[in-house]
Amino acid sequence: MGKHLIVGAAGQLGIELMLSLHSRFGADQVVLTDIRPTPHPDGAKSMYVEADACDAVALKAMVEAHDIDVVYNLVAMLSARGEANPMAAWKLNMDPLLHVLELAREGLVKKVFWPSSIAVFGPDAPKDHTPQDAPLHPTTVYGVSKIAGELWCDYYHTKYGVDVRSLRYPGLIGYRSQPGGGTTDYAVDALIQAAQGRGLECYLDANERLPMMSMEDAIRGTLQLMDAPSEALTVRTSYNLHGCDFSPIELEAAIRAHVPDFAMTFAPDHRQGIAASWPNSIDDSAAQQDWGWKAEHDVASLVEHIFQGLEQPA
Ligand code: SER
Repeated sequence: MGKHLIVGAAGQLGIELMLSLHSRFGADQVVLTDIRPTPHPDGAKSMYVEADACDAVALKAMVEAHDIDVVYNLVAMLSARGEANPMAAWKLNMDPLLHVLELAREGLVKKVFWPSSIAVFGPDAPKDHTPQDAPLHPTTVYGVSKIAGELWCDYYHTKYGVDVRSLRYPGLIGYRSQPGGGTTDYAVDALIQAAQGRGLECYLDANERLPMMSMEDAIRGTLQLMDAPSEALTVRTSYNLHGCDFSPIELEAAIRAHVPDFAMTFAPDHRQGIAASWPNSIDDSAAQQDWGWKAEHDVASLVEHIFQGLEQPA
């Protein structure tokens, strides 16, 4: 069995995936690449190759030099930042994916994971329990790039037999790493501020409900999907995935169970428009049926889990 390559290893998801792959396969079976080293101390246990994921030649050299079988391509510019830089977002969200799919088509890589997002949905999709096959008319370049990427994944699977797997993640909430440039980031910010005894000015409306998920659930779901037998998978674009869903005011209440003085104020900005175009909750019955998905954290247990994590020594 070859090694696992995490592209975008220094990012919010990359750090968490690295820790899980370390405990599963051993740090020597994991190779990390990004444009900067991972900020987590355990990053030093694995081989690190500094490279721009948009550089196809560098990626190919890495895969060949390090006997890579599985690639997790996590590189992305998230929704809010993408709106400020549409062409840069398009390039960063597409080029590395296409390079990795090409390596798989050439037979250099056996399996690929690539994250999609709830951002593929737009205002015309049903808001509650949004189905797998709801209309896909997003209002952000991030959403447009995720749909294009999903279709490329399906195309490479159908046309070339590439084993590529994908999940439409909700907003991801962890304590080890922070997102940047997303619309769901307020939830991570709220928990970090509360743990430090501060409040938060939230850039969304108090009642803007969004699908969210603990990082623990997200990584478990990712590895479960990667472990599933290929023939069990009926979705080769990207699976809807639900964790829990809440509004800022509900998150404030859940945080107050631990930090009674915590308070949010609300000053909605351009990100409110993005959030309003996204689902409230997601129907993930295809993931449940095909590979047994079940989220563990609701909002109360997610908040508790994050506070416990933030209290641990780094
Ligand atoms: N968390 C992402 C964002 O807010 C959505 O996938 O952009």
